[in-house]
Amino acid sequence: MNRFNFPDLGIGVGLRTVHFSHILGSQPDVDWFEALSENYMDTGGRPRYVLEKVAEQYPIVLHGVSLSIGGTDPLDFDYLRKLKSLARTVNARWISDHLCWTGVSGRNVHDLLPMPYNAESLRHTAERVRVVSDFLETPLVVENPSSYVEFATSTMTEWDFLAALAEQSDCGLLLDVNNIYVSSFNHGFDPNVYVDAIPADRVVQVHLAGHQNHGTHIIDTHNDFVIDEVWKLYGRACGRTGDVSTLLEWDADIPDFPTVHAEARKASAFRSEGSRESGAGGRKTADLRSPTPDSRPYSEGPYAAV
Ligand SMILES: [Fe+2]
Repeated sequence: MNRFNFPDLGIGVGLRTVHFSHILGSQPDVDWFEALSENYMDTGGRPRYVLEKVAEQYPIVLHGVSLSIGGTDPLDFDYLRKLKSLARTVNARWISDHLCWTGVSGRNVHDLLPMPYNAESLRHTAERVRVVSDFLETPLVVENPSSYVEFATSTMTEWDFLAALAEQSDCGLLLDVNNIYVSSFNHGFDPNVYVDAIPADRVVQVHLAGHQNHGTHIIDTHNDFVIDEVWKLYGRACGRTGDVSTLLEWDADIPDFPTVHAEARKASAFRSEGSRESGAGGRKTADLRSPTPDSRPYSEGPYAAV
């Protein structure tokens, strides 16, 4: 169990538009769903309706791509107000975003840009995480990004930066083991060292996904099945964290829901017998619906998870 007592929700699937009808019509036996915050924040209509219907039956976690926690523009409190309201409406179990910056001077490039990892960026980011967590009234959960370039001004590894950030800002961590694998390939480090260095008691969720290997580099495309090496990393991470809320991301070339769900369920082989039998998450988790951030309400947008 993590230090925040965020529950192990079991094995979830990213909520995607192409699956809306199937989910509403079939009510699949999924433990939980992760919804992309920005796709539901600014408009009503069918996406918002669907999310609220899904939230009536399944635990929901909100996952953002626009917070720009590492950026230098002032924090966007209008965005944060909408995010908090949405979290309350769907009783989000927690709220996550990425260790990255997404623009400057008011421009959002809709991409998760890598950061320099040094003392100055650590101080800057930790302070912003503390402000966001205070505003949201729940510890922000920060995800490790995938990256393709590194800064010459970095003085520490990404895993040391993340560990220090978590300690200094008291945030949770969303460990994306596919991102670790992608970055380890692109930058030439040992992904096992990364997994072993993460403060396990701060990991409240894990991401799994597929990618495209081009030989000289990997692109984090989320358009395929999870490769064996990433499953092994996941097993290694579970060995440190114990059973932890796990989610499969599939954002391009998305197959039908049963295919995505079956891929996600492969994670059960790495989880303890006790967790599987307890049926964490899903429609059996009325007890999880209580105290969370106070809250109420967000649309379809051009965002994809990473
Ligand atoms: Fe991810």
